[in-house]
Amino acid sequence: MDEPVTRRVVCPGSFDPITNGHLDIIGRASTLFDEVVVAVGVNAGKSGNLFSIDERIDLVQRVTADYGNVRVEPIDGLLVDFCARHGIRAIMRGLRAVSDYEYELQMSHMNHRLSGVETLFVAANPLYSYLSSSLLKEVASLGGDVAGLVPDLVLSALDERLAERRAKSA
Ligand code: PNS
Repeated sequence: MDEPVTRRVVCPGSFDPITNGHLDIIGRASTLFDEVVVAVGVNAGKSGNLFSIDERIDLVQRVTADYGNVRVEPIDGLLVDFCARHGIRAIMRGLRAVSDYEYELQMSHMNHRLSGVETLFVAANPLYSYLSSSLLKEVASLGGDVAGLVPDLVLSALDERLAERRAKSA
């Protein structure tokens, strides 16, 4: 008899920091696949990163710990090479709005051309369809209330980091 195949998917991103929108996609991936690998980009958005790669990985690990079939890895280099190393044939990305589509389509075609890996798009939860890590950081840094848009422990990490930055620049 054939060996059972482990169905694995990767959810890649910068996760600076992880939001409830990301978490929604990861949670849905975890119900559809045997294993979900969250790939946190080492260099993704590097100039503007608020959190180091280790901090971003730690936050993703802590907020996904309950899923049971999610693991978190750093990714440095091409996503298709990461997929090959980890035996992954599908990438899952959330689409928030039509504006996401162009860039996502471009990446999915390139990744497919490079290695044949498939990209699966899921419609982002409408509750978070306007949410991005960049907007979250901008609003939080200007004193806006972002509670409910990130898990509580991410909110604490965000508050702490922004307070450190404010103290440094004072
Ligand atoms: O959270 P982001 O910034 O939208 O994530 C972008 C990410 C990390 C998915 C993308 O930059 C990526 O896949 N980086 C890995 C390097 C790579 O393979 N680049 C070519 C993509 S076609």
